Amino acid sequence: MRHFTSIKQLGNIKEALEAAKYVKANPFADKALGQDKTALLVFFNNSLRTRLSTQKAALNLGMNVMVLDVNQGAWKLETERGVVMDGDKSEHLLEAIPVMGSYADVIGVRSFAQFKSKEDDYNEVILNQFIKYSGKPVFSMEAATRHPLQTFADLLTIEEHKKTARPKVVMTWAPHPKALPQAVPNSFAEGLLMTDYDFVIANPEGYDLAPEFTKGARITHNQDEALEGADFVYAKNWASYEHYGQVLSKDMSWTVTTEKMALTNNAFFLHCLPVRRNMIVSDDVIESPQSLVIPEAANRVVSAQTVLKMILQDL
Ligand code: CP
Repeated sequence: MRHFTSIKQLGNIKEALEAAKYVKANPFADKALGQDKTALLVFFNNSLRTRLSTQKAALNLGMNVMVLDVNQGAWKLETERGVVMDGDKSEHLLEAIPVMGSYADVIGVRSFAQFKSKEDDYNEVILNQFIKYSGKPVFSMEAATRHPLQTFADLLTIEEHKKTARPKVVMTWAPHPKALPQAVPNSFAEGLLMTDYDFVIANPEGYDLAPEFTKGARITHNQDEALEGADFVYAKNWASYEHYGQVLSKDMSWTVTTEKMALTNNAFFLHCLPVRRNMIVSDDVIESPQSLVIPEAANRVVSAQTVLKMILQDL
């Protein structure tokens, strides 16, 4: 694999999950693969899990790791071409990217949707510039439209806990005070549609995701109906795609509570974290034995290591 920007690039998802299980059982088996190779992790946005799990994954593979927080200590970057740079931005991304490429063998990029332009966000302008100008393999650590390392970890977590071959998985919108990108739910839908699981998306009207990510999924605006008989509940907030980047609702009746979970088939609860307690999910649910949020986060090392291994094998 050269670049990793979508879960679809893993190809056969069953084989990819088997590869991940091998990595999980043998975390240091490929220590020689990354020797004398450097991973550069570039963050345009905050992170806890991605920052730590990807570093750990690279270290497990014997790589050196460098982390750059673009907004803390680097020169402020201009991203638009044609701009007269007479403001506070000292360096252009078009120089910065090949310079970064000259220091690294593999580059991870985190660059969220900015909600200024749906077109720019959905064309993944920043991520694609890294692919075009760095000269190195690039992997997404959450971009504007997808978070494939998260999705891979989510799928692994479901695989490890499912009690039937074809579980019912419900992704439900839940309220949040701020406008959040659609990357996680887009990517989760993309990944679930690679499986043969019974997949349902529940969201209020006005919150339907981009059809390119949800084609083939059942979509309902009735959360209770969706939750009936669910084996896994994946909660997430996202801002409206149709009314791009807007918060249309903070309806607290969509919070995942014990009462909501009682509608399910004793479902496991999933969330990518960080999560706003008692907005997205009640304390009781996230602290319950059915909550998988910690093993799900732990699986981020496995997903990153499996993907980095695939990239290193093709260097
Ligand atoms: N889930 C996730 O990507 O977490 P961070 O934003 O903390 O990296």
